[in-house]
Amino acid sequence: MSPKKEISIEQPGGRLGVLLPGMGAVATTFIAGVEAVRQGLARPVGSLTQMGTIRLGKRTEGRAPAIKEFVPLAAIEDLRFGGWDVFHDDCFAAASNCQVLEQSLLEKIKPFLQGIRPMAAVFDQRFVKKLRGDTSNVKTQGTLMDKAEALMRDIDAFVEREQVDRLVMVWCGSTEAFLAAQDVHQDLQSFEKGLRENHPAISPSMVYAYAALRKGIPFNNGAPNLTVDIPAMQELADKNSVPISGKDFKTGQTLMKTIIAPGLKARMLGLNGWFSTNILGNRDGEVLDDPDSFKTKETSKLGVLDYILQPDKYPELYQDFYHKVRINYYPPRGDAKEGWDNIDIFGWLGYPMQIKIDFLCRDSILAAPIVLDLALFSDFARRARLKGVQEWLSFFYKSPMTAPGLYPEHDLFIQQKKLKNTLRYLMGEDLITHLGSEYYDF
Ligand SMILES: NC(=O)c1ccc[n+]([C@@H]2O[C@H](COP(=O)([O-])OP(=O)(O)OC[C@H]3O[C@@H](n4cnc5c(N)ncnc54)[C@H](O)[C@@H]3O)[C@@H](O)[C@H]2O)c1
Repeated sequence: MSPKKEISIEQPGGRLGVLLPGMGAVATTFIAGVEAVRQGLARPVGSLTQMGTIRLGKRTEGRAPAIKEFVPLAAIEDLRFGGWDVFHDDCFAAASNCQVLEQSLLEKIKPFLQGIRPMAAVFDQRFVKKLRGDTSNVKTQGTLMDKAEALMRDIDAFVEREQVDRLVMVWCGSTEAFLAAQDVHQDLQSFEKGLRENHPAISPSMVYAYAALRKGIPFNNGAPNLTVDIPAMQELADKNSVPISGKDFKTGQTLMKTIIAPGLKARMLGLNGWFSTNILGNRDGEVLDDPDSFKTKETSKLGVLDYILQPDKYPELYQDFYHKVRINYYPPRGDAKEGWDNIDIFGWLGYPMQIKIDFLCRDSILAAPIVLDLALFSDFARRARLKGVQEWLSFFYKSPMTAPGLYPEHDLFIQQKKLKNTLRYLMGEDLITHLGSEYYDF
């Protein structure tokens, strides 16, 4: 792309509605977190849109504004929240159950959280076998197309109730069972026929995404489900000029992998094996205890190293390295996951070395700022008239979506450069190549 293109971007006037299918640990930690920040009770740590800066021009110019001042993003004061869940719990009850945030913090914003109640979900137990309890807050009438239309009516009611001017959707629902793309996903006409005929390969997340795209609402996929990563959805996104992004929030062990692997490769250090295992005890961990849901997650986690290390280009360093990923449901830990990585590397003359990582992380604490950033950036993308797959948002995902035929970029630092250069490009600033020839005589 050529630098300094003139792009007109609508200003973010009015309120932005953030719609969340799935109001569990991640969604409630996000909502409660935004409210806590708005009330001055905490800082939005981990959010690029709230804390990040962006260098503009030469290093000698000293221009590095905050991203949220450089790019016309919605202000967090203007966000309103809504969503769907199979459980009836309001956001206070759901956040209390998840035990991510301290009860003393939740109590301070209790009335606000109690005011957010999930709308009835589109749900199919075949795709999430391990959800237990009173899962009766669901739409039961009609075909999948009728349910998509019911979601659109929910959205209209939300707009009316909250007086919002624009909307975005971020999937924060459970990981669905593994699904391979099939004929019904190949074009919009077949997909809509499938919705009318209750095709078994259309999952609930696809019904939400379809409803969002029909209404021109950007859709972001926080789980590894296929959802919008099929030609039919891309056709609809294109037709209605809507941005889409996915898949699977990049947090925890995969975040670490995409920080460390690029460093090993940059220094031409070899890899014999990478074993990742973790214990977590939240509901996400329980859902992933089902082999079909784990397969969706495993596929998303395994791709990362191959793409970063390029064994085909560096066979002496990376051919046949052994990569294993395990997730173990262990209730006592709740959301406070512990992830271990054992990395067998080799250096000069093939001498072996090991790296051990013990990451005592908090899943939803790492995911919540990503929901905020995706909501704000995808709203910005819509106002900048971008449509279809937003590859510049790969930075936030384990399994980034790309244009057909392109391999995904997993290296966190390449993703960061891509994101920041996209912002510079859209705002008419020079791209930063890091060549630096202007400082030296060459
Ligand atoms: N926390 C992280 O670090 C992280 C990272 C990457 C991806 N994710 C993904 O984000 C999603 C949310 O994670 P979580 O920890 O909040 O899980 P969670 O189990 O606490 O919340 C998921 C919620 O989705 C609801 N749900 C399931 N199917 C639904 C449907 N069809 N419609 C509406 N609601 C539905 C469940 O009832 C539950 O309340 C999961 O798919 C998870 O794999 C999380």
